[in-house]
Amino acid sequence: MTPTVAPSRTTLPPEGAGLAKGGPSLRPSGLFISFEGIDGAGKSTHISGLAEVFKAAGRAVTLTREPGGTPLAEKLRSMVLNDAMDPLTESLLIFAARRDHLSSVILPALARGDVVLCDRFTDATFAYQGAGRGFDLATLRTLEQWVQSAGADKWLQPDLTVWFDLNPAEAARRLSGARVPDKFEAQPVEFFSRVAQGYADRQQAEPSRFARIDAAQSRESVWQDVLSVLKTKNWL
Ligand SMILES: Nc1ncnc2c1ncn2[C@@H]1O[C@H](COP(=O)(O)OP(=O)(O)OP(=O)(O)O)[C@@H](O)[C@H]1O
Ligand SMILES: [Mg+2]
Repeated sequence: MTPTVAPSRTTLPPEGAGLAKGGPSLRPSGLFISFEGIDGAGKSTHISGLAEVFKAAGRAVTLTREPGGTPLAEKLRSMVLNDAMDPLTESLLIFAARRDHLSSVILPALARGDVVLCDRFTDATFAYQGAGRGFDLATLRTLEQWVQSAGADKWLQPDLTVWFDLNPAEAARRLSGARVPDKFEAQPVEFFSRVAQGYADRQQAEPSRFARIDAAQSRESVWQDVLSVLKTKNWL
């Protein structure tokens, strides 16, 4: 089923510039779905179940995450999540990881026709480094366009972004005691309020790409909402 998103954002030219050059070109049969939301919003709870549902429907699935998804990008993830650094350094490392992830994993998977389920993508960079840490959004937009370039005035974005919207106080309650917090998870609730606003801003800028899920509901209701988004698109 062809995704119902603007083709200019998802179709790389056969011999085009940017990421496609000399590498695999993106076929529209692949589906690229990202999952976003603040720490504790419920992304991991639902993403693997969704992978199983797609597999049961006969689709090959690539389940991956950001920052990370390749050996190099996982090393960069570890630095970003654990080491102190200024926001420009952090943003450059995240986009470097994204470039490696796109060229080694995401684009080849989409070219094979896989469903790519990605736990966080570029919206998280705008939400955490941009809104959360207050880093310059124009610089992030430049990096986004460089790293996700797909020819003149085109750049790769997910076909769909499932946004688990949860208030930061409830997310903190759900996470409390669950694991040792990393650099971001240890931030105060005000940080996550800014991050949540960053996600809302991204949704407002590109509403047709986003599906907002009310993540304050029970696990079962959230799951049903996620399934219904995919069924509405005729992807399941
Ligand atoms: N609807 C829900 N109601 C109550 N608890 C939930 C719900 N969904 C998930 N949880 C619990 O909340 C915690 C956080 O969920 P999860 O790990 O899926 O979040 P996440 O978005 O992946 O977070 P992170 O970005 O930190 O990886 C888990 O302990 C999970 O079991
Ligand atoms: Mg998670």
